[in-house]
Amino acid sequence: MQTSQLLALIQARRTCYQFRSQETHVLTDLEIKKCLEAAIWAPNHKLTQPWRFWVLGKNKQQTLAVVYADNRASKKADCGSSAYQSLYTKAVEKFMAIPQIILVGQILTQDEFTAKEDYAACACAIQNFQLMAWQQSIGVQWSTGPILTDVRSYEVLDIESEKITLIAALYMGKVDTENRMNQLSQNPKRKSIDEVTVYLD
Ligand SMILES: Cc1cc2nc3c(=O)[nH]c(=O)nc-3n(C[C@H](O)[C@H](O)[C@H](O)COP(=O)(O)O)c2cc1C
Repeated sequence: MQTSQLLALIQARRTCYQFRSQETHVLTDLEIKKCLEAAIWAPNHKLTQPWRFWVLGKNKQQTLAVVYADNRASKKADCGSSAYQSLYTKAVEKFMAIPQIILVGQILTQDEFTAKEDYAACACAIQNFQLMAWQQSIGVQWSTGPILTDVRSYEVLDIESEKITLIAALYMGKVDTENRMNQLSQNPKRKSIDEVTVYLD
């Protein structure tokens, strides 16, 4: 791969909020596996390999939709009110329309410094994941929304919050070409290299 191609991939990747229909544009197990393969080759100090992934099937997604919808609706309306019910229903629909969800957790450690390094390693893994996804016309939104801290999510995944902390919900799906072009044209601005770099002698 040429350096220009690598840079083009890195620059083209965008956080995606809309995906092609999951009925017509299925993500294959192989595509997902390639993303995970890229993820686990991320740098990680002392080879702690602190990342864990949960690839949700539709049953688990439905169970988690309850947690997602309750968090969204209860932020804006009183539980049990008609406003709550309406927000809740819309949120379930929105969540279930996401073609594929993968949750990422970080193995916890007592040592504060290692924990910081492990979070950094997980972030590297997620970026590797996102780049491999983009290369396969799969868009990803890295979400750090309330489902990550809700105790019910830990119950759904059957994990202990003392041992693992959820750090990302990766919402993913195929990105259509037009949409992809729109996203490219809305390329979020980055500061120039000169604004963020000091060259020393
Ligand atoms: C640690 C982290 C947390 C993020 N959490 C969210 C989130 O909760 N919701 C969201 O829409 N995007 C989230 N993002 C994505 C950023 O908003 C996005 O990367 C940023 O707007 C730049 O856009 P780009 O990814 O298209 O370059 C997160 C990104 C990172 C690195």
